[in-house]
Amino acid sequence: MSLLQIIYTSTLVTDGAAVLSAILETSVRNNARDDITGMLLHSAGNVLQVIEGEAGVLQARYARICEDPRHKGLIELSQETVSSREFGRWSMGVRGLRPEDMSPPGASHALFRGGFDQHILSARPGLAREMLALFSRNMR
Ligand SMILES: Cc1cc2nc3c(=O)[nH]c(=O)nc-3n(C[C@H](O)[C@H](O)[C@H](O)COP(=O)(O)O)c2cc1C
Repeated sequence: MSLLQIIYTSTLVTDGAAVLSAILETSVRNNARDDITGMLLHSAGNVLQVIEGEAGVLQARYARICEDPRHKGLIELSQETVSSREFGRWSMGVRGLRPEDMSPPGASHALFRGGFDQHILSARPGLAREMLALFSRNMR
């Protein structure tokens, strides 16, 4: 089995709890069934998501996500084969970034200095993975 991991950033067309909870509900249901795991961070209407799973299944779901009219300006930051899941604890973990998250204890402040600026993230895809991994470790 080939395990694929995709990271992208996008902007919600309507920023609000209702949209996010609808997306989350579908995501958790589908991802649990399809053995897709990952995490979604959001801040000021911008989204940073990582999804991982069996390559064929993941590509098909990603194609659906790309077509979703609830977000726009999707930029793929990375797509690579991984040997094991990095975000395997969640069918879809979700976190909103709060101001205090910009300086989490023990974390490098600089990691979050640009927030979810798409230009910064697309220039440094490794940064996006570090941000996601940090939240993955700190989440209960
Ligand atoms: C930012 C964002 C992230 C999403 N993430 C997922 C996801 O991880 N899993 C999922 O099944 N759908 C996700 N969706 C929803 C899909 O775009 C699509 O609506 C859904 O997969 C269709 O599910 P269905 O085939 O059960 O109708 C996401 C949508 C948006 C806008």
